[in-house]
Order: sequence, then structure tokens, then C-alpha cells
Amino acid sequence: MSGVPVLPERIKTKRLVLRRWRLADADDVLAYAADPEWSRFLPVPKPYERRHAEEAVSRWVLEDWSTHPVWAIEIAGRASGGINLRINHPHRNAEMGYALARRYWGRGYMTEAARAVTDAAFASVPDLARVQAGANARNTASIRVMEKLGMSHEGTIRHAPRGARLERREAGVIYAVLREEWEEIR
Ligand SMILES: CC(C)(COP(=O)(O)OP(=O)(O)OC[C@H]1O[C@@H](n2cnc3c(N)ncnc32)[C@H](O)[C@@H]1OP(=O)(O)O)[C@@H](O)C(=O)NCCC(=O)NCCS
Repeated sequence: MSGVPVLPERIKTKRLVLRRWRLADADDVLAYAADPEWSRFLPVPKPYERRHAEEAVSRWVLEDWSTHPVWAIEIAGRASGGINLRINHPHRNAEMGYALARRYWGRGYMTEAARAVTDAAFASVPDLARVQAGANARNTASIRVMEKLGMSHEGTIRHAPRGARLERREAGVIYAVLREEWEEIR
């Protein structure tokens, strides 16, 4: 093992458990990912079929945890969404991505998960300078999560649709929080 810092594989928040994906989670993923409203802004196959859920979960199980930790969000004992970081250690940056089953939207769950992951990222990676997230500019719920986290809008990228159909001329937004800002917020 090199000396690369590694994030915890299990994070408990007030209402959620974030933990490593298991192959047995594929059924739970299929149950929420087949919903077209869930995937509206996500670059996933449509229609979303069982093999897509199985492929996705297999990929998440095999990710290199030092650069791409990817947690299942467990609610009431079921995998009900996911949250991940792509850590660019040389650039001292991490990009967060997340999605939650529609039945749980609007209860503050993703803000709770994203806070815990941001906290863990800054605590576990001493050199990390920033955590960023991006979304399609029309993805109001995702942008609201970034705002509630205390991230600042850093830019709008034209013709970079982030998850929507690539042929569409849509904008993407980037939000981020710097380490020193996070230390004040938390
Ligand atoms: C984005 C997503 C993860 C948010 O999860 P969540 O648990 O519902 O998020 P929270 O409850 O913590 O916060 C959502 C906020 O957005 C607001 N919101 C949701 N839909 C909205 C809309 N259409 N217009 C305005 N605000 C909206 C909610 O009211 C809430 O804000 P508030 O607490 O100020 O009221 C969830 O909607 C999701 O999984 N979407 C599909 C996948 C996706 O798009 N992922 C992001 C890709 S960048």
C-alpha cells in the first residue's frame, strides 16, 4: 500500500448509513433507477434494465477506494441511493456525485449524506483543498443540495449538459467549498 489517504468505508449519520456497495444491492438499484424521473439528469441507459443495475453495482464494488470511494446510501436496511467522490490527489480536488431513490426526495437526506462525505473527505485527506459538485443547470434539487452544503457557484459551463442528452445545448454548473470555508461552516 502507498501512503495515499483513504476515506472510511462506513459512515453513519443521524438517519443514514453510508457503506460499500455489495453485489446483492442490484435489485434495490433497479427498483429506483428504472424510474425515468430519477434518471432525468443522469447519464445512465434508458430504459434501465436489470443488467444495467448489475453492471453498475459490479463496477462500484471494484472501484479503487483511494481515488473513487462510492458509498451506497442505506435507508431502512435497503440501498436507496449512492454518493461518491472522485479524488484528484495531485490537484487537491474532489468531485462529489449523488442520487437518491425518488420515494425519499425532499427530506434532507442527500444534504445529510453530502455533509458527512464532505466532512470525511477534508478529515481524511489532509492535502485536500476543495470539494466540488456539478449539475445540469436545470437540476434545481441537486443545485439546492450544493447551496445547503455551503458551496459557492463557481461557474456555468455552456454546452456541457452534465447528464442530459449530449446533443442538447444545455448548461452545466459547478459549485465548490474550500477547506477553510468548510471549517467555518461545520
Ligand atoms: C438531487 C437529489 C439527490 C436531492 O436529494 P434530496 O434528498 O431530495 O435532497 P434534499 O432533501 O437534501 O434537498 C433538496 C432541496 O431541493 C429542493 N427542491 C427539490 N426539487 C425542487 C424543484 N423542482 N424546485 C425547487 N427546489 C426543489 C427541496 O425543496 C430541497 O430544498 P429545501 O430543503 O430548501 O426545501 C435527488 O433529487 C435525486 O436523487 N435526483 C435524481 C438524481 C440526480 O439528479 N442527482 C444529481 C445529479 S448532479
